[in-house]
Amino acid sequence: MGFTTAVRRRLGKYEVPAAELYRSVFIDLDDMATTLLSLSRPKRILEIGCGDGAVAERLVGALPDAEYVGIDVMAEPGRLFRGDRARAEFRSVYSHDLRAEGPALFDLVLVVDVLHHVPPAHRDALLHDAEAMLAPGGTLIVKEWERRQDLAHLMAYTSDRYVSGDKNVDFADREQLHAIVSRALPDFSVVCETRVPPKRNNILLALRRADG
Ligand SMILES: C[S@@+](CC[C@H](N)C(=O)[O-])C[C@H]1O[C@@H](n2cnc3c(N)ncnc32)[C@H](O)[C@@H]1O
Repeated sequence: MGFTTAVRRRLGKYEVPAAELYRSVFIDLDDMATTLLSLSRPKRILEIGCGDGAVAERLVGALPDAEYVGIDVMAEPGRLFRGDRARAEFRSVYSHDLRAEGPALFDLVLVVDVLHHVPPAHRDALLHDAEAMLAPGGTLIVKEWERRQDLAHLMAYTSDRYVSGDKNVDFADREQLHAIVSRALPDFSVVCETRVPPKRNNILLALRRADG
């Protein structure tokens, strides 16, 4: 168990409110969920890099008929999820392992604040896995933290590098993010690009296959 995880667990019942407060400095996840729900009303959701389950909690809570699968490379993904576990499954597997299982396809696939933790050489593969598990007509969401020359970015970089302890964290700017996505997913079009409050660094791209 990492130092940060050990410290967080010692917070006990205050861990969830502390995690929510900390995250809210950077992103309003309720606002992002509202945006996601305005784009689609999915029945099957996959989140690659689901973390503790903060996004899952919002979507599963808002969509009473939806099934959610969250995967992550961390141990115990979804540990802080407070919602209906009958409709939410969390697994510690790589996306290529889940893809190899041939799961039923998902009509919403989310990659939220994950790519900057993935080495550049592995990003295409992760996005290809997302594409392969997306149903025809489905929506793929790539939400990233944009590298900008501002105080918010300095805070985010410091947090990911020194609090989360990811030595290889590597943020893209807007043009680089578009380049990453269009190279990996040439058959997709960006159908929506928006910012998620409270920081302009939060850039969200909604993608769909160009042929429908
Ligand atoms: C900042 S957290 C975001 C968690 C969640 N998406 C959210 O927004 O609350 C980034 C997560 O990406 C996960 N991650 C990093 N590389 C990954 C990979 N190759 N495949 C799946 N998850 C990965 C990390 O373990 C971490 O839980």
